[in-house]
Amino acid sequence: MSNYQKAYQSSLENPEVYWKAVAQGIDWDEPFTQVLDDEKAPFYKWFPDGKLNTCFNAIDRHVENGRADQNAIIYDSPVTNTIKNITYRELRDLTANFAGVLSEQGVGKGDTVIIYMPMIPEAVIAMLACARIGAVHSVVFGGFAANELATRIDDAMPKVILSASCGIEVNRVIEYKPLLDAAILTARHKPEACIIFQRPQCKANLVKGQDIDWQKASAAAKAVDCVSVKATDPLYILYTSGTTGTPKGVMRDNGGHAVALKWSMSNIYNINPGDVYWCASDVGWVVGHSYIVYGPLLHGCTTVLYEGKPVGTPDAGAFWRVIEQHKVNLLFTAPTAFRAIKRDDPDGKRINDYDLSTLKTLFLAGERCDPTTIEWAETKLNIPVIDHWWQTETGWAISANCIGLEKFPVKHGSASRPMPGYNLQVLDELGNEVAAGVMGKMALKLPLPPGCLPTLWKNDQGYIDAYLSVYNGYYITWDAGYIDEDGDVWVMSRLGDVINVAGHRLSTGAMEQVLAAHPDVAECAVIGANDELKGQIPIGLVILNSGVSNDHETIIKELIARVRNEIGPVAAFKKVLILNRLPKTRSGKILRGTMKKIADGETYKTPATIDDVSILDEITTAFQK
Ligand code: COA
Ligand code: AMP
Repeated sequence: MSNYQKAYQSSLENPEVYWKAVAQGIDWDEPFTQVLDDEKAPFYKWFPDGKLNTCFNAIDRHVENGRADQNAIIYDSPVTNTIKNITYRELRDLTANFAGVLSEQGVGKGDTVIIYMPMIPEAVIAMLACARIGAVHSVVFGGFAANELATRIDDAMPKVILSASCGIEVNRVIEYKPLLDAAILTARHKPEACIIFQRPQCKANLVKGQDIDWQKASAAAKAVDCVSVKATDPLYILYTSGTTGTPKGVMRDNGGHAVALKWSMSNIYNINPGDVYWCASDVGWVVGHSYIVYGPLLHGCTTVLYEGKPVGTPDAGAFWRVIEQHKVNLLFTAPTAFRAIKRDDPDGKRINDYDLSTLKTLFLAGERCDPTTIEWAETKLNIPVIDHWWQTETGWAISANCIGLEKFPVKHGSASRPMPGYNLQVLDELGNEVAAGVMGKMALKLPLPPGCLPTLWKNDQGYIDAYLSVYNGYYITWDAGYIDEDGDVWVMSRLGDVINVAGHRLSTGAMEQVLAAHPDVAECAVIGANDELKGQIPIGLVILNSGVSNDHETIIKELIARVRNEIGPVAAFKKVLILNRLPKTRSGKILRGTMKKIADGETYKTPATIDDVSILDEITTAFQK
């Protein structure tokens, strides 16, 4: 039996034996005596009576074990022309100090803290400082608008919000403070304080009685030590788009998370402590939580924190420059980043300008990777390119080519095989397993492995309704695909109203809500049309109220501005078509799937239940214009 098969089989047949051994990779303050508590299934608890501190495991233990002078973080910011190295010792001191700032504000075990920050070391320090004192962080991606931030403030109810004066998008300075103030004004819940990091590119006006200057507070603070928390205590909440308009607060525990991520570093990524790991994402996404911050640091690696883009900062050679300069061993990014590089430098000429000899592997995730992009990366870089599939909810890969355990032949378009602990099944409508090669809904038999969400933040029923109620005893991934004869997983599309724009998961339902609120709009739909660069882009299809006097161009501009202001620029909502009617079934359901096929120029079957066929021709003409 192969290494992978042994690990996979043993993780499913004897999960407690398997994960008990894996958990030895973590330092426990109080060792667990029970591995899995299934008494309240479908709510499972991993290592329920163990105690640990995630920050200690990510920083302090490396300082104590000979890595004090190794770089923990390399901050590389082409947008500010900065490169800064932070050793493990420095990271410990900065984090302990900032934990002191938080404690000074009364933040303690179980309190929530929202972090709305750009890609600067202070964002990482803030996350780790929360973990150090047992507070629960919730990072909100900087590209979200004030309204989205307000929704998260109301759900997470933070005691304190941490932010910075600005972010920098290539060469545009984006002031964060006005967005933060607008969000606090809108939100029902009000934080007790906001701690603002002043960047030299822009100074924020601090509100008396609400805002605290980060740098001044840090100068006055006293370092604070790690506190022990239960393995099942929450480490963070991360909001993600779900099958309905409102974002879901995915909760992550401390123990299972640390165990799974530490394991993944050597077994999936084949990375050793001391290696340089670069995940070119953003700390606002799950990929950034797991593989910019926690995974590499738990393993004693050096992590690269990159405040830039694959192109435009300054050109399509940006990634290669970072790899050469910091001797990066592994790059993890989204396929869209490679499509952007390929678009600007189709022959990969810039690759030859740099020494990439340290780079061993490229991992891709966040969206389905088209075979052309994988082939391009393989040929140009001449290293293994691995596509792996995961979600905010799981926190680490559901399926991957676990090159540390055993490398499988790469099949372009497949996300390889299920990882240990994930009992992945493809099911039909009735919940029966389908044969190899047959498409169906991808579901995971419970329990989920350590590291996956134990529930939604303060919303057990929401967890059941969103994920566990479709198939009894299974978590539904809301992805559709198949497993082939060799056991390789093919993730083909997303079910429900979620679309994937440049590796970012967004809800079309939420965009429809914004469009529908415009006074001139009678009805609307948003679909995700295929896009060469971003994978998908949203398109709004709108019917106006009769007698609307405003001209169409003005209305379209207003609709685009509303989505940008209420959801955020990250939605990349730039196209609206005004139609006379929307295609519907006789029962009134809008045929979004058919419209998507028309937008993508694919052949479609006229739905038998459509109320008026002629409208499809109208829509085809509108898309062709
Ligand atoms: N704060 C404020 N605005 C932000 C932002 C942030 N943190 N991040 C993105 N935005 C804005 C961008 O400036 C852009 O605004 P614009 O419409 O005015 O140009 C918009 O949101 C869309 O951003 P982005 O998705 O980054 O698109 P882009 O056109 O600027 O760049 C790519 C395209 C492919 C280069 C870019 O999407 C990319 O690097 N993707 C990598 C994907 C990734 O990291 N995914 C994470 C999951 S693995
Ligand atoms: P997020 O939670 O934002 O990371 O988005 C997760 C979703 O992105 C998954 O449910 C998939 O729809 C999609 N996704 C992520 N990685 C892959 C992949 N390697 N192949 C196909 N789809 C992916």
